[in-house]
Amino acid sequence: MGVGTVLADDPHLTLSDEDRRVERLRNGRSGNPARVIADSSGRTPADARILDDEARTVVLTAETAPDDRHHTLEAAGADVLVAGSDRVDLASAIDQLDTQGLDRLMVEGGGEIIFSLFEAGLVDELTVYVGSLVVGGDSAPTLADGTGFTEEFPHLELTDVDRVDDGVLLSYTVGETVGRE
Ligand SMILES: NC(=O)c1ccc[n+]([C@@H]2O[C@H](COP(=O)([O-])OP(=O)(O)OC[C@H]3O[C@@H](n4cnc5c(N)ncnc54)[C@H](OP(=O)(O)O)[C@@H]3O)[C@@H](O)[C@H]2O)c1
Repeated sequence: MGVGTVLADDPHLTLSDEDRRVERLRNGRSGNPARVIADSSGRTPADARILDDEARTVVLTAETAPDDRHHTLEAAGADVLVAGSDRVDLASAIDQLDTQGLDRLMVEGGGEIIFSLFEAGLVDELTVYVGSLVVGGDSAPTLADGTGFTEEFPHLELTDVDRVDDGVLLSYTVGETVGRE
């Protein structure tokens, strides 16, 4: 996830379903998947819940991140990977994660990081839950924020629709980008 979500929500990002955790352990894996934060200048607070010892945490930073932030994050238990000069280069970061066995990423937002991943053509699948509460707000985050697409648009193919309580879970695969008609 992006550091914006870490700063806004202080998420834990561990499995809430105990059965899934037990199944992972039975299969010789860690109880929780590794957590990854895109954080160019190392702004993740040392006491963020995502840095606790319940799972491995990798913080992706850029070369311009101050050394003291790098050291603070490592002292807090994170593995720090440098990818990109001023901002995290997501394609290069994903290549580095792959060499460490992290070859499948589930990104839980927020909108800026999701936009960048689409922009870089790095998204294979998208899952959206449409719930049953109206939140609204003219500055509410959207699914993909960033600068938005104006000429070429990622195209989605709907593969599944599941009703969950009073909401729906929409599953898509991501196809070729399409131009403005
Ligand atoms: N409804 C949901 O399921 C859900 C899920 C997650 C989040 N959210 C909401 O989304 C909001 C946060 O979203 P957000 O868009 O502000 O933050 P975000 O996408 O979580 O994080 C954005 C930050 O990531 C860092 N980053 C590093 N490399 C990047 C790159 N290549 N491209 C883009 N960002 C990069 C940037 O900070 P640096 O420049 O400092 O690196 C950027 O400001 C919160 O309100 C949260 O509650 C909702």
